Amino acid sequence: MKFKITVLPGDGVGPEVITEALKVMDAAGSRHGHEFDLTYGKIGGIAIDEFGTALPDETAEMFDGADAILFGAVGGPKWDDTRAAVRPEDAILAMRKNLDAFANLRPVKVYPSLINSSPIKPHLLEGVDIMVVRELTSGLYFGSPKKVWNTSRGRRGVDTLKYTEKEIVRILRVGFELAQGRRKLLTSMDKANVLASGRLWREIATEMAEEYPDVELEHIYADNLAMQIIRNPQHYDVIVGENTFGDIISDEAAVLAGSLGMLPSACLAGTPKRGGVGGGGSVPALYEPIHGSAPDIVGQGIANPIGTILSMSMMLRHSLGLDDAADAVERSVEGVLDEGYRTPDIAGGGGNVVDTTTMGDVIAGGV
Ligand code: IPM
Ligand code: MG
Repeated sequence: MKFKITVLPGDGVGPEVITEALKVMDAAGSRHGHEFDLTYGKIGGIAIDEFGTALPDETAEMFDGADAILFGAVGGPKWDDTRAAVRPEDAILAMRKNLDAFANLRPVKVYPSLINSSPIKPHLLEGVDIMVVRELTSGLYFGSPKKVWNTSRGRRGVDTLKYTEKEIVRILRVGFELAQGRRKLLTSMDKANVLASGRLWREIATEMAEEYPDVELEHIYADNLAMQIIRNPQHYDVIVGENTFGDIISDEAAVLAGSLGMLPSACLAGTPKRGGVGGGGSVPALYEPIHGSAPDIVGQGIANPIGTILSMSMMLRHSLGLDDAADAVERSVEGVLDEGYRTPDIAGGGGNVVDTTTMGDVIAGGV
């Protein structure tokens, strides 16, 4: 079969890691008899430079009819002016919203061979396998008012944390359903002790738990979870929460996996279906590594492409239904890590340190 993929490399290390993911995708495609029809779009800072907007219409139009979108990263010092009218990051938020990609799945898997790459004690890391489910199209990121303005008593800034019942229900449902297919523990993080929206979140989670008697639901304050996830990561299975909390906890959880560069993500409009076209609805799902554009290491060939390669593999599985190819990619990543190949960010425990391109080559060679 031939699949239509919209590719958005973006800024910074985005193009470097996307090149490697496409290389691995190609290898998996030829081995398993699948073809990919790629369309490249401009997004982020380079789009601001060329079109004056971070998500130009030319790019947004490429989403129609695509089977999936593979995205690198956006942003960089050139566009970092806090007073700028447009920011590269606007594109990510607009894209997530346009695609109604409210469910952000961020799997945190500790590979046995990377246990020594993490600063956390090895005995705490064995077998860690967490799925962070981050609400992605509402909460503090999107609520209005959202602005900075001048008053006679100085400047003010406001952001708004707002959720409707419907938004909370649909993201919790993804959490419960994923937990059903895993270890059946759902940890719901909130700040019900101080936030009204957090109290609503907790109330709805408790009500919904009755629909899922096979899943154990636990509530935890997000600040406490930030501590517990490092103290006892083996406890956690599926973690669900508000947009900002999910953003912060997933970066923190990346330390368990050895590096931010290891973590993939899928932004979906529903619970992924086993072995089939996931995401639900008619819009394509979006796949992106959780790291950003890493301007400090651009062009040095040291970016870790594994987060993007694994995002591509989630795309094969959830949007294209190609479990065979996805399994092959994931096995190859594990094999390459077992053989000792390391980009510098995961070389803490030693190993054969290679550049971005070589890491892509060896993973492609192993699918
Ligand atoms: C992420 C990133 C983005 C976010 C930034 C780059 C806007 O940190 O995907 O986690 O905050 O969502
Ligand atoms: Mg983040």
